[in-house]
Amino acid sequence: MGKNIIEVKKLSKKFKDFLAVDEISFEVGQGEIFAFLGPNGAGKSTSIKMLTTLLRPSGGEVKINGFDILKNERDVLSSFGIVFQDPSVDGELTAYENMYFHAVLYGVKKTERKKKIQSLLEMVELIEKKDVLVKNFSGGMKRRLEIARGFLHHPEIIFLDEPTLGLDPQTRNKIWDYVKKINKNEGTTIFFTTHYMAEVEKVADRVAIIDNGKIIKIGTVEEINNLTGKNNLEDSFLHLTGKNIREEGAEPSGMMRRMARR
Ligand SMILES: Nc1ncnc2c1ncn2[C@@H]1O[C@H](COP(=O)(O)OP(=O)(O)OP(=O)(O)O)[C@@H](O)[C@H]1O
Ligand SMILES: [Mg+2]
Repeated sequence: MGKNIIEVKKLSKKFKDFLAVDEISFEVGQGEIFAFLGPNGAGKSTSIKMLTTLLRPSGGEVKINGFDILKNERDVLSSFGIVFQDPSVDGELTAYENMYFHAVLYGVKKTERKKKIQSLLEMVELIEKKDVLVKNFSGGMKRRLEIARGFLHHPEIIFLDEPTLGLDPQTRNKIWDYVKKINKNEGTTIFFTTHYMAEVEKVADRVAIIDNGKIIKIGTVEEINNLTGKNNLEDSFLHLTGKNIREEGAEPSGMMRRMARR
């Protein structure tokens, strides 16, 4: 493994008096496929938003591709592509137009645009649909388009926040095939979240498990399973994070608090 392309030191995020991310520290090596796992509300998306400059940290330090997220925002921005948890492709544009505007936005050279868009749309098997308005796409097609778009500008790192949420197994397998191919062929570092543990077992080099804003384990799937004494990641995950469903929202609502007092 080469240098560390993501370096995170004591990163925190407070929303009012709720600590969503609590002094997390970790590194990701260049070319690594790194899974960031945790129950609902653990702080995964909040962390990704800070790593990608969309949200200002309350404390700590982050270097992306050697650049400080606060001091070198431009260099940070040109170092990564991102696929959000909530679809962000524009329904009123065609697949090709979505790709084209993103290419312009991210400074893909004019001479390369057409070829790059063509090959990425082929990769995600949307080339035949390139002139269809995205609002007529299925959820899986939108996701595939977002992923193709995330790879447009040859980023050093790609952040994928639940890229396979709600997709059928066929599409999920396809997406991981693309991601692995790009990781292998271009050396792109992959930082992703998912709730599908089987995906992690198939693709991740290393895993971090976050719960209640704190990282509780980092290692390979094998190392984590050895530590817990379980033979698959889902059992290890449940062992480490407990079996209770997480409450949505940090603070119990007034009604929940009143009920708890009874
Ligand atoms: N803008 C915000 N204002 C207040 N609280 C927030 C805000 N964004 C997130 N939170 C809270 O921070 C916590 C972490 O949220 P986050 O979205 O990072 O979780 P997650 O790990 O991505 O969960 P999921 O698996 O459900 O996507 C949650 O309790 C959430 O309610
Ligand atoms: Mg999330």
